[in-house]
Amino acid sequence: MNVIHTPVLLEETLSLLAPRSGGEVMCDATLGEAGHAEAFLERFPDLQIIGIDADKSIQETAKKRLERFGARARFYHGRSEDFLARAAPARIAEFGIEKFDTVFIDLGVSLYHYVQSGRGFSFAKDEPLDMRVNPSEGETAADIIARLPEKELADLLYNNAEERYSRRIARAIVEERARSPITRSKRLADIVARSAPPQYRRRAAHPATKTFQALRIEVNGELSGLRPLLESAWGALRNRGRLGVISFHSLESRVVKAYFRELAKDGSGRLVTKKAVAPHLEEIRMNAPSRSALLRVVEKI
Ligand SMILES: C[S@@+](CC[C@H](N)C(=O)[O-])C[C@H]1O[C@@H](n2cnc3c(N)ncnc32)[C@H](O)[C@@H]1O
Repeated sequence: MNVIHTPVLLEETLSLLAPRSGGEVMCDATLGEAGHAEAFLERFPDLQIIGIDADKSIQETAKKRLERFGARARFYHGRSEDFLARAAPARIAEFGIEKFDTVFIDLGVSLYHYVQSGRGFSFAKDEPLDMRVNPSEGETAADIIARLPEKELADLLYNNAEERYSRRIARAIVEERARSPITRSKRLADIVARSAPPQYRRRAAHPATKTFQALRIEVNGELSGLRPLLESAWGALRNRGRLGVISFHSLESRVVKAYFRELAKDGSGRLVTKKAVAPHLEEIRMNAPSRSALLRVVEKI
């Protein structure tokens, strides 16, 4: 077992989503390497967790990590919106649960995906351009790059990651793919770097950062699937249950904020976090990827 992801906003999550009675059941809808889940099971000896992940290989790591908790940790492989939508109206036979006391969602992908998956998430590596968290379903990033007309490719970069040079990057991709299909992460990173204006190349972030982010979001339906994920999570919660969501980029954050506001406005929810909770400077210093994380919690009335 090789755990590399550092859970973000851990103490804040433990405190805002702490069980409030005995024998509670929490759904960790984005289990990943189970960093949050392990901390919850350790701190609250009475708590049970159902952990869901669309990625089978990362879930294997989670299973090993949580083995010592026995039946307090159970698992489901698949997309959480599917699982939770099934769970909401009726009892899920295999887990014997009617509703969850807590649903926790830590959006996006894990450090594992960039560093160890071998699926082309990182512009710093030379790997097949796949980017699917579940490699057994849907289109790869290479498929999308090969298929989309230039304008749609530009729109994708702009809409998913607010890439300001979306048009020139899309043009460069289309020119290059006419020579030969773009199937490797390194080639894509080079194409984007060459097409970006010099001032973009001088910045701290690699010029292909947003292109890779936009493709990853598209491949895994991270934005289109977010609202259904939140709705299914809300439906699967008992009254007084809490939904906690950590978002990582502004587009994601906007969807979560709007949905929570709606719940508060129509009287079905109470905002536990009036203002989204951001990491302390110390956490950002220790774990740079946490810098954009925001935690929001809403309670069902
Ligand atoms: C940021 S990581 C979670 C990290 C975890 N909290 C930890 O501390 O190790 C997000 C995980 O959720 C998974 N994931 C993302 N969207 C999902 C979805 N809609 N359904 C199921 N799993 C999803 C990804 O495969 C990834 O492993």
